[in-house]
Amino acid sequence: MTIRTIDPKEVATAEVYALMSGAVAPRPIAFASTLNAAGDVNLSPFSFFNMFSSNPPVVVFSPLSRIRDNSSKHTLENVLETREVVVNIANYAMVEQMSLASTEYDRGINEFIKSGLTPEASTLVKPPRVQEAPVAMECKVTDIIRLGTEGGAGNLVVCEVLLLHVNENVLDEAGKIDPYKLDAVARMGGDYYTRANGDSIFELPKPIRNKGMGIDQLPEFIRNSNLLTGNNLARLANTEKAPTAAEVEAFQSDPLVSYTISKYKSEPAKLQYELEVLAKKLLEDKQVEQAWKVLLLSQRN
Ligand SMILES: Cc1cc2nc3c(=O)[nH]c(=O)nc-3n(C[C@H](O)[C@H](O)[C@H](O)COP(=O)(O)O)c2cc1C
Repeated sequence: MTIRTIDPKEVATAEVYALMSGAVAPRPIAFASTLNAAGDVNLSPFSFFNMFSSNPPVVVFSPLSRIRDNSSKHTLENVLETREVVVNIANYAMVEQMSLASTEYDRGINEFIKSGLTPEASTLVKPPRVQEAPVAMECKVTDIIRLGTEGGAGNLVVCEVLLLHVNENVLDEAGKIDPYKLDAVARMGGDYYTRANGDSIFELPKPIRNKGMGIDQLPEFIRNSNLLTGNNLARLANTEKAPTAAEVEAFQSDPLVSYTISKYKSEPAKLQYELEVLAKKLLEDKQVEQAWKVLLLSQRN
């Protein structure tokens, strides 16, 4: 394994940008609608974006000064003038229109018109929201934090969310956002994007619901397995305690286990391997308790 180590002070800003934006990925996209002091509408996407607080509800995005000439983006100038923004969430259905809106049109050009998206009057702030967006957040800008003075410097636009608009089409029956319905898109390095949909969405139970024993507490033969990956071990180690000897014993009569044991009875090394294969399958099938039992059984035979 060869690691390349880069000192950002030693390379061009564009290279630092390319490396970091490739690595810090995927990034969600704030599709920001703002007005200048004259009331001209602007709509631009920003993937240096996230939520940072829920009480108060705060999102932050960062228009960089342009690397090529240190000029400011219109969105930054607008929030400095008017201190209001609507942060719309972009999804797959509008990704090309969102990208089109990122064109560097002249100041005063309305990217709603250029991108063909529909402005919908906001309730508490002056910039309109994007009607097609699954979620739109009306915000007041509480802080603008300049991170530098040279080209490529970020400007954190700290936005307190005053009002959220959520299209009911993206809600599940419990009123929560259904990630499959949201169909979010996110930016990666270069021209790459990703779409949160289908197989790319998966669930991982939060470890805060229990206190997993940790990988250090797994029996040594499990920790040293050549077959089980770091993810497999972590899933096992998210269990509070291993099954008891009696539970392990009882599992010996499970059809798959007893079949494997009787098949490889005369070849202990092969049996150990096959039981580990079975445990790995069970783990990947979220049958953690059974995987534990198979692994512990593998030591008995
Ligand atoms: C998906 C996407 C994400 C972007 N994220 C950022 C960003 O986080 N910061 C930034 O300065 N520019 C970002 N850009 C580029 C701006 O959208 C682009 O410079 C835009 O023209 C700025 O518009 P404005 O000058 O009207 O504010 C992004 C572009 C796209 C397509």
